[in-house]
Order: sequence, then C-alpha cells, then structure tokens
Amino acid sequence: MQKEPSDLRVLGIESSCDETGVALVRSRPDGVPMLLAHALHSQIDMHQAYGGVVPELASRDHIRRVLPLARQVMQAADCSLRQVDVVAYTRGPGLAGALLVGAAVACALGAGLGKPVLGVHHLEGHLLSPFLSADPPAFPFVALLVSGGHTQLMRVDGVGQYRLLGETIDDAAGEAFDKSAKLMGLPYPGGPALSRLAQQGDPAAFRLPRPLLHSGNLDFSFAGLKTAVMVQARKLVAAHGLAEGLALDQAMRQLPATTRADLAASTEAAIVEVLVKKSVAAMAHAGLARLVVAGGVGANRLLRQQLGEAMAHRGVRVHYPELDLCTDNGAMIALAGAMRLQSGRQQASTEYAFDVRPRWPLDQITA
Ligand code: KG4
Ligand code: ZN
Repeated sequence: MQKEPSDLRVLGIESSCDETGVALVRSRPDGVPMLLAHALHSQIDMHQAYGGVVPELASRDHIRRVLPLARQVMQAADCSLRQVDVVAYTRGPGLAGALLVGAAVACALGAGLGKPVLGVHHLEGHLLSPFLSADPPAFPFVALLVSGGHTQLMRVDGVGQYRLLGETIDDAAGEAFDKSAKLMGLPYPGGPALSRLAQQGDPAAFRLPRPLLHSGNLDFSFAGLKTAVMVQARKLVAAHGLAEGLALDQAMRQLPATTRADLAASTEAAIVEVLVKKSVAAMAHAGLARLVVAGGVGANRLLRQQLGEAMAHRGVRVHYPELDLCTDNGAMIALAGAMRLQSGRQQASTEYAFDVRPRWPLDQITA
C-alpha cells in the first residue's frame, strides 16, 4: 500500500565530502519532519596529515563507514530497515567518488528492501536543516549558505523555490578560513581552529581588506583576503627573523602566540564583517524579516554574535540549525528528502539507476 507523504520514514545518507552521515527522519502531517536518530563519522583525523581532503581516501572511508552507521541509526531509532519507506542520498554537489558511494549504497538498500530512493541536493539539505531545530523558520526567508565550497545568499519561498541573490566569485567563506588557517600553521579544517585562536587576539591589530563590501550587489570575493593574510604573514615572519629556510606555515608556528592570535582575529573579523553586511543588504533587498544561516561556517561564534546584533536592530529573526547539524550530516539529507516528497515537488524512484552531480547549482534544481 502506498503511504501518505505526511507519514514516511526517510533514511538519509550523506557522503559528499569528508563526513559520512546517516539519519532517520519521520515526516509529520504539520509538514515539519522529526529526527528519530542520526550518526556521523568525521574523516578529519584521517585527512589531517595531508592538510586537506584526499578524495580517494574519502571514498574508501565512506565505504567502510556507511553500513555500520546505518545499523547504529536503526538501533537508536528502535526501528528495522523494513520500516524505512524511502532512502534519500546526496546526489551532489561534492566529490564525485564520495558521492558515488552514498548513491550506490542508497540504491542497493532501496533495491534490496523494495523501497524507492531519492537523490537530494546537498545545499538544499543545509538550507532546510533549521527545520529540525527547536526554533524552526517559516517560508519565505533569506538563506545565507556558508560552507567550505559555497557562499551564497538565496531567497527561499518554499521547498524547491530558490532564487540566487548573490554568491562568491572565487573562494568560499569556509575556504577563506581554511586557507588562511593553513598558512598560519593551524591544523585542518582551519575554520574552527582559526576561530579558537582568534578568541585571544585583537581583531583590529591588522588592517585586512573587506572585498566587495561596497560593490552594490550581493556577491562575495575572498581570494584577495587570503592573499592579504599571506602578505601580512610573510611580513611578520621576516620581522621576527624566521624566514630563513622555513616554510611559511612552519615559521608562523614560531611567532609569539599573541601575534598569531591577532592575525587570526583580524582575519575572522574581515570575513565576518563581509558576511554580516551582505546579509543585511540581502534582507533589505528581499524585504523579508527572516534569515536562515546554514553550512559549516554557520557554527562560527563571532558570525552568530554579530549577525544577531545586526539583525535584532532591524527586526529580523535569525534561524540556525542545531550546532551539531551545522556541518555535513545525514539528518539534513533525510529531512530534505522528506520535505521534497511532502511538498509534492518530487517523487521517489524505484528505477535504482543513479548518477551524481559533482557540480550542481541549487537554483537549477528541478522538481
Ligand atoms: O558545510 P560544511 O561542513 O562542509 C561543506 O559542505 O563544505 O562546511 C565546512 C566548512 C569548513 O571550511 C570549515 O572550516 C568551516 O565550515 N567551519 C568553520 C567553523 N566550523 C566549521 N568556519 C569558521 N568557524 C567555525 N566555527
Ligand atoms: Zn556541506
């Protein structure tokens, strides 16, 4: 018997980058699904030795982790795989090999269980993830998507109704954090490490550029900032007589702790100021009073604090996913699958033929 889309158990599988995530979500008649259980394995320790994600290692590790995580989720939800109604997986964007693991496992599970499957857009998962929080948003809203690969402002009128307002023309905000952190000698992933170091520093210590701050549109650019951080780092290293025979990141590690903290704080302040000012401009442009912030950089404390202050003045409510659902996870994929089915924008398929879309603009998502 075909079940109503308002009463489905959706298993979600995320494997687009360096986190394997699995979750079980149950859709509800009020349209806001409930998270029954989720489990996550981060590959950070494995990639740390290389200073960034190694795609082939990522794919192999997803293969090892995904089924044990699925078992863990089913146990935590006290549910059997037979009770799953739909299997949702991340179809893109992301690393091709890593995506293929999740897609293949989801389709194999679906075929084995005789249940339909659904490919989900990773950013749609991030964007909708605050619906699983204690303070869910309501449509329409503006979304600031800030991850390792994307920096976008979107107008969101409903599930699948996304209009791009502005985006980065080069590096993403997360990339700016990660690349600056790397050249300061901090471990991967640099965002959280840089942010921690910044807490002891003076954000006004170094003058760094705020790219495109007054561009008059809602686009971002972070590549120049990263270069400015590098130039500043070289100056500091030379001023301390550390340049000889050392790579920049090694030399940076030998600087006084306060100097490194000052550079970290100045870098974080520059990134956050641009994100906050562009978000303020986007709210005015869209004429809306709700902002959703999603993606890994949404976990940043300074960003949360400064957005909170700027938006409170303007009567705008800011919604975030729960902190553990800010970075990649399976819950947002199960959620996006459940919400797409419930909105009637997409049907799950029993063809089990899959492809992945490593590059896939969110506003080109089709029903
Ligand atoms: O959304 P996400 O988990 O993966 C992608 O889809 O990219 O985002 C990861 C990014 C990384 O660049 C990481 O450094 C950044 O989010 N990030 C942070 C923080 N936590 C994660 N950046 C700044 N401050 C943080 N607290
Ligand atoms: Zn992500």
